[in-house]
Amino acid sequence: MKLSCATFLFTAGQTFAFQPSSFLGGGRRSSNVFTNVDHSSSTPSASSSSSSSSSSLSMVATGPINCRPIGIGSASPRTVITNLDLESVVETSDEWIRTRTGISERRVLTHNDDDGDQQQHESIKTLGSTAASSALEMSGLSPEDIDLVLVATSSADDLFGDATSIAASLDCSNAVAFDLTAACSGFLFGTITAGQFLSNPSSGYRNAIVVGADALSRWADWDDRNSCILFGDGAGAIVLTATEEKEGVYKHGDGDGDGGDEDGEGNKKVLGGPPGILGSSAHSNGKGYKDLNCRYGGSPRVVATPGDGVVISEGSYERMSMNGKEVYKFATREVPKVLKEALDAAGLTVDDVDHLLLHQANIRIMETVAQRLGIPVDKIITNLASYGNTSAASIPLALDEAVRSGQVKKGDIIACAGFGAGLSWGAAILRWG
Ligand code: UT7
Repeated sequence: MKLSCATFLFTAGQTFAFQPSSFLGGGRRSSNVFTNVDHSSSTPSASSSSSSSSSSLSMVATGPINCRPIGIGSASPRTVITNLDLESVVETSDEWIRTRTGISERRVLTHNDDDGDQQQHESIKTLGSTAASSALEMSGLSPEDIDLVLVATSSADDLFGDATSIAASLDCSNAVAFDLTAACSGFLFGTITAGQFLSNPSSGYRNAIVVGADALSRWADWDDRNSCILFGDGAGAIVLTATEEKEGVYKHGDGDGDGGDEDGEGNKKVLGGPPGILGSSAHSNGKGYKDLNCRYGGSPRVVATPGDGVVISEGSYERMSMNGKEVYKFATREVPKVLKEALDAAGLTVDDVDHLLLHQANIRIMETVAQRLGIPVDKIITNLASYGNTSAASIPLALDEAVRSGQVKKGDIIACAGFGAGLSWGAAILRWG
C-alpha cells in the first residue's frame, strides 16, 4: 500500500487482511472482526525456505464480505505488438509464443515525447481513469458518491502513487484515494481490502472503486525472450457498494431433513447468497521473492555535506527478472489450493462455480488449475490472447469483457484468483449482480 506518511493510520484503523502474522502471534488467524472466518480448509502456516515449498508465511480466509459489484470497466493502449512483431525483437516465433503461453498480441503504452500531442498521451493515469469512469457509468453512481478509490499497480506514473490523480480526474471529490502494490495479485488484494472498508458498518465507507492498472512494458527486459513476450499494459476497474444483505440463498438440498441449515424443502443453506464477495483467501511468501522481482538499483551520488559528503543512492529500478519455470510451478501448485480455501470460506464447492477467472498469465496455467480443481475448461474466462499478461489489470479487464459480452450474467458465481511477485496469491469468490 503506497500512502506515504499516512499508510500506518489507514491500515491500523481497518485491521484488515495483510498484517504480518507475527502481529497476532503467528499461524492462521481471522482477518477482522466483521466477517465470518473459516479456517477449516486452510493450509498450515509455516516457514518455508523457498517458493517451491507448499507453505506460505501468511494467510487469511474470510467468509462473505458485505459489499457487491455494481460496475465494471476497462481500458487498453492503442499500440499493438503482435507475436510476429516480436520475431524482430528477440529470437522467438509466433508459434512458440502461442503454444507455450496462449498469447497472440499485447498492447503497450508508448513513450511520451514532449513534442507529442498531450491529448493523445496514454499513461497509467489515463487508462485507470477511463476504466474507472466506465465502471462508474455502469454503476449508476455519481463521482461524489464514491468514498474510496484504491489503485492496485506496480508501475505507477508517479512513485507516490496514481490514485489521487485518478480520483481527481473522475471528480471523486469525497473519496480518499491510495495505491496498493501487490503485483499481479494487486486487484484481488485491492478488492478484498476495499471490501473490508465497506463491510465495516462504523467506517462510513459506502462505495468504492478498485482499479487494477499496470504497464510492465516499462520494466520488462526487452532482450530477454523468456519474459518480454508475456507482458502487456492495461487497466480495469470495479465499483463496489456496501450491502446490508446477510441472508444466504438455498440450494443443493442434502435431503437429510435435519432442519438445521435447511429450508422447509430440505435445501441446504449456502453462505453468502446475495451478490458480492462470498469468500476469499490470501497468501504471501517473501521467500519466493527471487523468482519474480523488479529491484531498486540506484547509482551513487555525492551529497556535499561538510567534510567528505554523503554518498546516497540516486533512484532507478533494474529490469524485471523472472524465473518462469519456478513461477509456473508455484502458480499451478498454489492457485488450486487458494481457490479451494476461498470456496470453503464461502460455503461453496467447485460444482457451484459458473466461471473460473484467473490472472491472465499463461493459458496452460489456467487449464492446469481448472483440471486440478475438476472445473471444466470451458468455464475459463480468458482474453489473454489479445492482451498478454497485464498484471494487476488482467482480472478486471477480462471480467469487463465477459460481463459486457453477456458471458457473465447476474447471479453467476465467478471464482477469481491472482498470483505473482512477492510471491503473493489470493482468491475471491464473486457473485455478479
Ligand atoms: O504474472 C505472473 C508472471 N509470470 C508467469 O506467470 C510466468 C509463468 N511461467 C510461464 O508462463 C512459462 O514458464 C514461460 C512461458 C515463461 C516459459 O515456458 P516454458 O514452457 O516453461 O519454457 P521453458 O522455460 O521450459 O523453455 C523451453 C525452451 C528453452 O529452450 P531449451 O533450453 O529447451 O533449448 C527456452 O530457451 O524454450 C526456450 N524459450 C523460447 N523459445 C522461443 C524460452 N522463451 C522462448 C521464446 N521463444 N520466447
